[in-house]
Amino acid sequence: MAVPTETFYQFPEGFLWGSSTSGPQTEGTVEGDGKSMSNWDYWYSIAPEKFHAQIGPKDTSTFYKNYRKDISLLKETGHTVFRTSIQWSRLIPKGTGEVNQQAVAFYREVFSEIKKQGIQLIVNLYHFDLPYCLQEIGGWENKEIVYAFESYARTCFDLFGDIVDTWITFNEPIVPVECGYLGEYHYPCKVDMKAAVQVAYHTQLASSLAVKACHEMNSNHKICIVLNLTPAYPRSESSEDKTAARLAELFQTKSFLDPSVLGTYPEELISIVKEHDLLPEWTQEELDIIKENTVDFLGVNYYQPLRVQAPSADSKEKLTLDSFFAPYDMPGKKINPHRGWEIYEKGIYDIGINLKEHYGNIEWLVTENGMGVEGEEKFRKDGVIEDDYRIEFIEDHLIELHRAIQDGSNCKGYMLWTFIDCWSWLNAYKNRYGLVELNLESQERIIKKSGYWFKELSQNNGFRK
Ligand code: BG6
Repeated sequence: MAVPTETFYQFPEGFLWGSSTSGPQTEGTVEGDGKSMSNWDYWYSIAPEKFHAQIGPKDTSTFYKNYRKDISLLKETGHTVFRTSIQWSRLIPKGTGEVNQQAVAFYREVFSEIKKQGIQLIVNLYHFDLPYCLQEIGGWENKEIVYAFESYARTCFDLFGDIVDTWITFNEPIVPVECGYLGEYHYPCKVDMKAAVQVAYHTQLASSLAVKACHEMNSNHKICIVLNLTPAYPRSESSEDKTAARLAELFQTKSFLDPSVLGTYPEELISIVKEHDLLPEWTQEELDIIKENTVDFLGVNYYQPLRVQAPSADSKEKLTLDSFFAPYDMPGKKINPHRGWEIYEKGIYDIGINLKEHYGNIEWLVTENGMGVEGEEKFRKDGVIEDDYRIEFIEDHLIELHRAIQDGSNCKGYMLWTFIDCWSWLNAYKNRYGLVELNLESQERIIKKSGYWFKELSQNNGFRK
């Protein structure tokens, strides 16, 4: 009888294990904390019905009050790396100018405490949240915001550069472009291709200026951008479907990946944008800034693949992304039934090999991967959420990541979304992602089965399966 064999998936020495979260999704607001209204606070104030169970951005998971306890839980769940973000509206309430000293004290304490625990800290400057006063003057459509961001970035490097040496400029910059300017999932809920292109270009320029500032102020600091490099797979091998997949990646991944890593925009993207009269306002000096200030490494978020097919003829009438590619619902796909998203572990391998072959084998980290589960309390046994499905999800993605590393991809760590169940934009607390459960009534934190498992994973620098 054949004995079932198991493999030990050993990761390279020094591989980082941890999780990611963001300021707006965890901190919450406390009366008198000096934070101003962000674009999310404003949107909630005028359209609370858009937010799941009408839970808004004020009521995030009380990290502002409970950070000490939460940081001790990082240790208990085996973290060797952790990422969060600074809220611009907390640090510089008017967007530019005066700094909120309470925010400085808060972030300094949080960052110092994390470092004290021996955990590598990665701090992101922008996770979808803009001070509302800057949105009022046009948000990312207005070039002034680019320079306001640069000045905010310089303030962060100056105030926290002695405790933080690894930075992120933006998290998933394509998401606010798509959701806020080509859809109605982020404020200002416009559908306007021209504005979307301008916003994307301004965001890239702001990111490159932050890279420049970081290197000028601290030459030993490392800075990256976090991109959701979702691979697009065509429905068939027909040339129409393959073109749709290529265009989907061009718009959704290469639009930030190429300028951030290679310093230039893809020729094909430029010609499409020109052909449709969508060119943003740009200068040669700005393009030089983008060219000369590429990132030191890359953060990659991966949840599910994009399956696409050629667009239908009628979708070409009004120009949107649907004019270039259409979603494809692949029969028989493996699915996370608690969130409705496809599970396709090989996507992470394909990303790793793409970076190796086409982006100079740049160093990268998985900065988000994870499994959202609605109604997770039904998996509680003896007081603990038994989330075996999450453990299996992580293991299966790690097997593909391990294979990419074996094949030469330069991945240095794996960070789960997320640490403690947190508030998520329009979905509030619907989908739970954490290694630690958050009880919404009592705000009690309880480690899930995956949290204990994650500690072992980190201690063993690998797992057996
Ligand atoms: C990521 C974002 O894309 O998805 C996070 O960076 C977000 O901010 C996460 O919370 C999960 O999204 P959702 O909608 O399933 O809660």
